[in-house]
Amino acid sequence: MWRSVFRCVSANPVHGQRNMTSQSCLAGKVAIVTASTDGIGLAAARALGLRGAHVVVSSRRQDNVDRAVATLQSQDIRVTGTTCNVGKGPDREKLVQLTLDQCGGIDILVSNAAVNPFFGNILDSTEEVWDKILDVNVKAAFLMTKLVVPHMEKRGGGSVVFISSVAGYQPMPGLGPYSVSKTALLGLTKALAPELAPSNIRVNCVAPGIIKTQFSSALWKNEDIAEEVLKQMSIKRLGEPEDIGGVVAFLCSKDASYITGETITVTGGMNCRL
Ligand SMILES: NC(=O)c1ccc[n+]([C@@H]2O[C@H](COP(=O)([O-])OP(=O)(O)OC[C@H]3O[C@@H](n4cnc5c(N)ncnc54)[C@H](OP(=O)(O)O)[C@@H]3O)[C@@H](O)[C@H]2O)c1
Repeated sequence: MWRSVFRCVSANPVHGQRNMTSQSCLAGKVAIVTASTDGIGLAAARALGLRGAHVVVSSRRQDNVDRAVATLQSQDIRVTGTTCNVGKGPDREKLVQLTLDQCGGIDILVSNAAVNPFFGNILDSTEEVWDKILDVNVKAAFLMTKLVVPHMEKRGGGSVVFISSVAGYQPMPGLGPYSVSKTALLGLTKALAPELAPSNIRVNCVAPGIIKTQFSSALWKNEDIAEEVLKQMSIKRLGEPEDIGGVVAFLCSKDASYITGETITVTGGMNCRL
């Protein structure tokens, strides 16, 4: 009897099954990931692409787009690239139209772009700072969603994922306006989810902790600051972009088909509550 059990396990190793599922669970899907030529966006595009999605990557600079496309292609990922500054309406429309023209539809939107042009006491921040941060970090996330929803509906449903931050739960010192913009994404997730559920579109959010990218380099390039940052974590390492990419891919997969309106914190155990 044990021999036949062993034969069965070797023929269908759970690990092998998982690999097969993860490699193909998004086959046939088309995913737009904004700000996806570096860091978390690129990792999310890679995670979706490795699971079979055709990914559309973009950011402001053509040379960054070219580099990201070449990187993903070298990993056998189906990828299309274009420039898009998400703060600009015509750029957002171009991104959506190019996706429709080249991929035939849209199933997934990962809204990842954010800026932070200000560091200091919140009372010293100007109207221009607030306009820039809210335009890119919040309004563009909403307006991108509004643009893609009719196309997701044509496909019978879809998945939207916003990238917030642990700072959305606990404002970081010196990063007041940015933190507030990230809190707004938690609300946007909750506001959109019930309206889009009847269209079979799920809306979720990921709130990363400190992830080792260019964006957060001020928090980890200096050893003293990095040591202080690590004290706040249960898992004593900084996050890697891939730690976020996998969670984004999970939220876009069938495994998450009963999850909407939620934010998953991915922080190595930092305290997160509003
Ligand atoms: N890293 C962290 O610790 C951390 C923690 C919490 C949340 N987050 C969030 O994660 C997201 C990604 O951050 P990251 O750390 O991955 O940053 P990153 O590694 O510095 O990459 C930023 C990407 O965004 C693009 N980009 C910047 N402004 C853009 C715009 N207006 N329109 C389109 N693309 C733009 C950049 O390319 P171009 O220069 O070519 O435009 C680049 O591809 C952000 O929403 C951030 O708030 C990061």
